Amino acid sequence: MSRTRIHNLSISLDGFGAGEGQSLETPMGHAGERLHEWMFATGFGASLIGAESGSEGVDDAMARRHEEGIGAEIMGANKFGPPGWQDDPEWRGWWGETPPFHTPTFVLTHRPWPPLEMAGGTTFHFLDAGPAQALEVAREAAGGLDVRIGGGASVARDFIAAGLVDDIHVVVVPIVLGRGSRLWDGLEAIERDYDVEAVSTASGVTHLTMTRR
Ligand SMILES: NC(=O)c1ccc[n+]([C@@H]2O[C@H](COP(=O)([O-])OP(=O)(O)OC[C@H]3O[C@@H](n4cnc5c(N)ncnc54)[C@H](OP(=O)(O)O)[C@@H]3O)[C@@H](O)[C@H]2O)c1
Repeated sequence: MSRTRIHNLSISLDGFGAGEGQSLETPMGHAGERLHEWMFATGFGASLIGAESGSEGVDDAMARRHEEGIGAEIMGANKFGPPGWQDDPEWRGWWGETPPFHTPTFVLTHRPWPPLEMAGGTTFHFLDAGPAQALEVAREAAGGLDVRIGGGASVARDFIAAGLVDDIHVVVVPIVLGRGSRLWDGLEAIERDYDVEAVSTASGVTHLTMTRR
């Protein structure tokens, strides 16, 4: 059975997955790059940004799980672009002509566009649909493989709240953001539905895995 998974969702100690003030110049708002520094220091992260090499320890092993067995991704409109990207016909996402998804990728937005076919196997499809319906469409496209919920925090929260996520990998980064897009709001006692494990690594982050019971 195809699973629904979240990987490498990096949050601050106070639970924010992005800072306030997302824009073309500051995609993660006032958080800057700090939520993902741990990942770009790994071999996996280095390959995403065209760097020569990165670490090969626990952070790298955890980060690489992001891609294993994934047949489609669902992401939120704010991950795909800065506020108002729907008004810019030239916008093709942050990732250039060869985005790192390599699968059908469903962007949830209240202002859907026709599909955008990119190089390397990624096609962006734009969906105005609730979590359950979007998951059905993505699962069909995933051809028996798993579906990743790619974030940001608000889309991840909606899918967790709807009881649709089987595996959650959250990376707690030791910074306090104070404001932004929060993951855990409205998810009180969610831990009761999951087996939870945690491991802290030398980089200072804590990997939390939550597997649905
Ligand atoms: N920390 C991490 O690991 C991580 C991971 C991924 C992304 N990010 C960052 O997180 C930020 C984005 O996260 P976010 O929480 O602000 O927003 P988000 O989850 O990316 O997107 C939320 C938006 O998606 C659209 N949407 C969501 N559900 C919908 C539905 N059911 N139907 C139609 N449209 C729907 C709405 O936009 P409209 O109403 O405008 O269409 C909504 O405002 C970005 O800065 C991104 O770079 C961080």
